Amino acid sequence: VLQTVALMGLGYLCAAWLGAVWICRLAGAADPRRRGSHNPGFSNVLRLYGKRLALATLAFDAVKGMPALWLAKGIGLPVWAQGLVGLSVLLGHSYPVWHRFRGGKAVASAFGVLLVLTPPVALLCAVCWILLAWRVRTAAIASLASAALAPLASVWLARDYVWIIIAFTVLVLVRHVWNIQRLGSGDEPHLGLSQEKRR
Ligand code: G3P
Repeated sequence: VLQTVALMGLGYLCAAWLGAVWICRLAGAADPRRRGSHNPGFSNVLRLYGKRLALATLAFDAVKGMPALWLAKGIGLPVWAQGLVGLSVLLGHSYPVWHRFRGGKAVASAFGVLLVLTPPVALLCAVCWILLAWRVRTAAIASLASAALAPLASVWLARDYVWIIIAFTVLVLVRHVWNIQRLGSGDEPHLGLSQEKRR
């Protein structure tokens, strides 16, 4: 139990560094929390600043939870405990102590967590995200569909992880409430560089 709590703390604290904030700061670009959708994540950075910074943000957010999960798996924690460590990573990204508890939507960090816990589910969700983002050019639709797909895919590919993946999905859906409202009213922004793109 002590090991689980320690790794949950590690996962939370590492994930509480927001990739979008640090990558944009390093690149000398304005804080993405003040522009576009105001979300510190891959999609907003892509719309604002293009592929290079967006991919760096995605990599940062996907990788930051991995050390805690590798340790959890490495020391042989049971599946439920690995799941709690993963959930802490998602909570760290969504409610980050280093950023006044105002974080992102946990899509990239969930991808990183799933990549360690159950790579086939992660890869299937990534393919779903890319195809939908390409077809409908709306990040939130791609994220919501991938979040819905994850538990279904886990029934087939990673049965032990179903319950914890349902918890991930619920968190991602909760973080997309504004997107769902904007999709309903037709105000959700499309992917691709917006007129706001500027350094
Ligand atoms: O990955 C986050 C995405 O689903 C929504 O982000 O910036 O379009 O609100 P955004």
